[in-house]
Amino acid sequence: MKVNFDEIVERQGTYSAKWMGTGGSSLDYRNPAVKLPFQVADMDLACPEPIVQAMHRVADHRIFGYSVRTEEYTEAFITWYRRRYGLELKGEWILPSHGSMSAVNAAVSTFTNVGDGVIICRPVYGHFTGCIEEELYRRVVNVQLINRDGYYEMDWDAFEAACARPENRAFILCSPANPVGRVWTKEELARMCEITRRNHVLLVSDEVHCDILMAGQHHTPILQATDAWDNLIMVTGINKTFNVAGLACANAVIPDDNLRGIFSKEFGHGLLSPFSIAALISAYTECDEWLDQLRSYIEGNIDAAIAFLREHMPKVKVRKPEGTYILWLDFSAYGLSAEEIHRRIYEEARVLLQDGTVHDPDRGGQFQRMCVPCARAVLLEGLRRMAKEFEA
Ligand SMILES: Cc1ncc(COP(=O)(O)O)c(C=O)c1O
Repeated sequence: MKVNFDEIVERQGTYSAKWMGTGGSSLDYRNPAVKLPFQVADMDLACPEPIVQAMHRVADHRIFGYSVRTEEYTEAFITWYRRRYGLELKGEWILPSHGSMSAVNAAVSTFTNVGDGVIICRPVYGHFTGCIEEELYRRVVNVQLINRDGYYEMDWDAFEAACARPENRAFILCSPANPVGRVWTKEELARMCEITRRNHVLLVSDEVHCDILMAGQHHTPILQATDAWDNLIMVTGINKTFNVAGLACANAVIPDDNLRGIFSKEFGHGLLSPFSIAALISAYTECDEWLDQLRSYIEGNIDAAIAFLREHMPKVKVRKPEGTYILWLDFSAYGLSAEEIHRRIYEEARVLLQDGTVHDPDRGGQFQRMCVPCARAVLLEGLRRMAKEFEA
């Protein structure tokens, strides 16, 4: 069945973090009084009907007690990875978690100490910094990605040097990369695995964006990049893929017995909400076709946004991402201060993006992050508003 992703779903009055403070109904998106939000990485698109039905079934039970994962959950997870990625997992490797950031946080907190260095490669999802510094009192060790005309690559010498320092104990990888849109190749991933392992650095691979890829792209789960798994934790979730972030359902996958034993002792009992359990089972068994259609719609949005920008805001530099539904927009050619770029977009155009400094505090001032998984008409309205403020 063809899914109608052009449908505009009301999000006002649904506790949506993204639509808080936007001043009106999502259906009223043409009204300039309503701010248009593209800042939060969740979708304004209805989630798949089988998941909605699964939520109804859970609600109809009328009791929402402590819930544990079943064999069906584990099987759904394993068969999804077998079917979509050709990766064979074992049930005991899978550890459910309330969202992917809690699994990342638990991994770093379990295997490093206060004051240790944790490597990240900026520009990268800003919450990694918050997690390392504010939640865990570790130190961010940034290995800046190299920007080659909007295509971001690892600085291997700097990465090797950072891993070699004994006080740097973990590396958080964003794969695919938010906000720069890279889908790391198997060769790049294998090299990260080799360097970290040789230097006794834990590699935590946050793969929440792995299912949203452009046509022709292939995501390699970190466990497929090597068969030496004793420093690897893969974190994955249904949150982004199926637009169920509010259910906070993610999983850490840890094949190494020793690593997993230590992690699970620290991490606790792995209870999930019954809604999360039912959603994951449905997502991983009934929603392949929906996801394939979603991917084409998102790619259509990305192409439409880039075409619009090339025509109406040609000074904005943007490269089509390989994966994710995120655009990383470079406004530097306008020659404006970061504050002025912000003012024009957020106050004049009344469009909410995310300042680049969230993901790259030192060099992100001229960048803005824009999440595009919404009805195309809303996306184009947001872009039109921006163009008016920059090209008038
Ligand atoms: C790379 C990355 N990791 C984690 C998260 C947060 O995921 P969760 O809500 O599952 O903690 C996000 C959300 O944008 C993200 O982009």
